[in-house]
Amino acid sequence: MLTPTGELVAAARAAGTAVPAFNVITIEHAEAIVAGAEAAHSPVILQISENAVRFHGGRLAPIAAATRAVAEAASVGVALHLDHVEDTELLDQAAACGLHSVMVDASRLPYAENVAATAAAVVRCHEQGLWVESELGEVGGKDGAHAPGVRTDPAEAARFVAATGVDALAVAVGSSHAMTDRTARLDHTLITALRDAVPVPLVLHGSSGVPDDELRAAVAAGMVKINIGTALNTAFTGAVRAALAGAPDVVDPRKYLAPARDAMAETVRTLTTLLASH
Ligand code: G3H
Ligand code: ZN
Repeated sequence: MLTPTGELVAAARAAGTAVPAFNVITIEHAEAIVAGAEAAHSPVILQISENAVRFHGGRLAPIAAATRAVAEAASVGVALHLDHVEDTELLDQAAACGLHSVMVDASRLPYAENVAATAAAVVRCHEQGLWVESELGEVGGKDGAHAPGVRTDPAEAARFVAATGVDALAVAVGSSHAMTDRTARLDHTLITALRDAVPVPLVLHGSSGVPDDELRAAVAAGMVKINIGTALNTAFTGAVRAALAGAPDVVDPRKYLAPARDAMAETVRTLTTLLASH
């Protein structure tokens, strides 16, 4: 069932748990994530990134409609989110496509410009009923390079939230995007300091590279929304490789997409169970 992002995040925060936000690229991603969430009996956020929209020829509507239809049929709460938006024109399509929330990503800009761009986007998004996340202290890896040394300063984070009016804040605490091994180490003291400094829920990006014990500790320290993408693609692509290995006669994509979707669902189930438990 469709449930707004703000509601899922508020419920997780009140319960001392976290809600996972998984990246959707194809309809199989949406199906796998919902299947995994249903198996875990826990809500999830389905997020479509600007990069994924670009993959679909710059059109948000088709993948958003498919994702929304899969979410509507779910037996658990599912929110719809637009992730890492740098193109502000795309923000205006989010509400029209039935999404609940957006992440305004102006983190590449210097601080003052990030504040101005984010504050303007927040006004525009709130007018359309969208919940808004943004990022301070760029989490590395979006261009393939890790930046594990980057950290968000708690005092600056407090000023940023007050100046922009965002509903949630993504922070840099040691994770990095697109890691295919789970070796990231987080600064849990900093997570606690950030949680105490800002009034809004904290978001962890690049969570695929974070091992289970670190994820548990991050949630205990105050992370509420946990973004995961690469781990799903690792499971999916591994299953495709296994299905095609030694099977040169296979031509029907369902022969390798079905096991890949199952493998992705199982990854979603285990991560969702981990994050939803106290
Ligand atoms: O916004 C999306 C996430 O931060 C996913 O990062 O692919 O490294 O798990 P990841
Ligand atoms: Zn991210």
